[in-house]
Amino acid sequence: MPTINFTVNGKLTPIDSDPDTPLLWVLRDTLQLTGTKYGCGMALCGACTVHLEGEPVRSCVTPVSVAAGKKVATIEGVGQAGVAKAVQTAWRRLDVVQCGYCQSGQIMSAVALLEKNRKPTDADIDGAMSGNLCRCATYVRIRAAIHEAAQSLA
Ligand code: FES
Ligand code: FES
Repeated sequence: MPTINFTVNGKLTPIDSDPDTPLLWVLRDTLQLTGTKYGCGMALCGACTVHLEGEPVRSCVTPVSVAAGKKVATIEGVGQAGVAKAVQTAWRRLDVVQCGYCQSGQIMSAVALLEKNRKPTDADIDGAMSGNLCRCATYVRIRAAIHEAAQSLA
């Protein structure tokens, strides 16, 4: 199997893998980064969202070969500073999480949104978050937490 080199959470990470293996399984099974969840496996739910070069991607349908030579960030390494810290603080303060299963994907999408847009409207938030489903329906608190995080960064 070929060796694929990519950076995961700031660390150069060579892995031996079939290039077609979904990034999600390399993260969860090979690297034990189990904060990224498997939901649908079809790019429909957003539970598996990670950042690839800062962009949110669905790791369940992203072959690991796409990440070669690139930077991947997961919920474990998204950071404790700047936007990531503001999002996580707002999430805790507003008690967003219910069962929690979708929430690492939600946070990754929220961080990616606020990295690009520090003053999102409700419509901006709904657009950016529309691919992240929550069976516990925490959508109202998610939107409020994104607004709160944005205000704390202003
Ligand atoms: S598990 Fe990837 S989008 Fe649902
Ligand atoms: S908090 Fe339960 S699925 Fe979103």
